[in-house]
Amino acid sequence: TTQYWKLSTNATEHDQAIREAAGLLHQQQVVAFPTETVYGLGADATNEVAVQRIFEAKGRPADNPLIVHVADKSQVEGLVTETPPIARKLMDNFWPGPLTLILPSNGTAASNVTAGLPTIAIRMPDHTVALSLLTAAGRPLAAPSANRSGRPSPTEAVHVSQDLDGRIAGIVDGGPTGVGVESTVLDCTAEIPMILRPGGVTKEDLQPFIPTIIIDPALADQETKPKSPGMKYTHYAPEAPLWLVDGDREFFQNQLNQLKATDQRVGVIASSELAAELDHNRVLTCGSKQDLTEVAGNLYGALRQFKKSDVDVILCETFPEHGVGAAIMNRLTKAAVQKVSQ
Ligand code: TXA
Ligand code: MG
Repeated sequence: TTQYWKLSTNATEHDQAIREAAGLLHQQQVVAFPTETVYGLGADATNEVAVQRIFEAKGRPADNPLIVHVADKSQVEGLVTETPPIARKLMDNFWPGPLTLILPSNGTAASNVTAGLPTIAIRMPDHTVALSLLTAAGRPLAAPSANRSGRPSPTEAVHVSQDLDGRIAGIVDGGPTGVGVESTVLDCTAEIPMILRPGGVTKEDLQPFIPTIIIDPALADQETKPKSPGMKYTHYAPEAPLWLVDGDREFFQNQLNQLKATDQRVGVIASSELAAELDHNRVLTCGSKQDLTEVAGNLYGALRQFKKSDVDVILCETFPEHGVGAAIMNRLTKAAVQKVSQ
């Protein structure tokens, strides 16, 4: 069975829970914990047996490498052959925070962490629970998002339970995460740094430090193989098929009416602005179109909310692609089975 710690505000109880969770990590077990982006499924990054348990619990393909989490910038040196000056600058400005850096691996991490690649993904999370668990564990932790492969990432401990109860040693419940979408993955091994996955740190945030920043062209093109192995897999899928609807209110309402006319039970995920104008009774609001940070925070929860037993299809609005909107649209495009445009 899976141990569950609901963190209390009582410092002694809190420390006790973290110590117990770290104890399981020392025994090559996997434990889920909150970060500022989504819940992660952690294991000792230097231990191949422990890391293997992550892949098994998630049903994750072995060729998809994991992000290594550190409690301190100084831990990076122990994992890489070199830290390029640009990476150093980004760590100083964005860590702790939702920015993962791809660096040349020195082979210290277990080989299954990097899926045999010569590079390694590293980040320092901006969450007190994650940092205290990393410190108590005393070693870097490999941690993918704590969902079954293909499902939306967990932004609350209950999402982790839904997917992984009975399959992992423990869950540290530190409440809902904040950012709601995963970290930005930035490849620092090339001449010009490249965003492999848009995330919590936006292109606009990075621009002052990397004027020439580029985005992996494969992200906008279904035919090209992405540089980040994980980006090629089906992801974030809700229980019912999701359609992205790109158009104005009238177009959205028409799509909705057509589906209802064929007796399909339709769930809608929309901004508060669109939700207020739609004529429908199953509408989930994920925040204002004017506040993409709010939308990002609610996105995965909304994708998990509609159950197969309630709806046959989910219609979801599109969002502007500036700021964290780039990450929102990246995830929605992957979650969707099709996109209908006006
Ligand atoms: O916010 C996050 O990043 C969360 C929390 C738990 O920290 N973690 C997360 O991990 O999203 P995961 O495993 O779900 O996504 C890791 C992504 C995958 O797309 C993977 O392919 C990519 O990072 N990745 C890992 N190592 C890589 C490498 N060496 N080169 C290129 N991409 C890499
Ligand atoms: Mg994931």
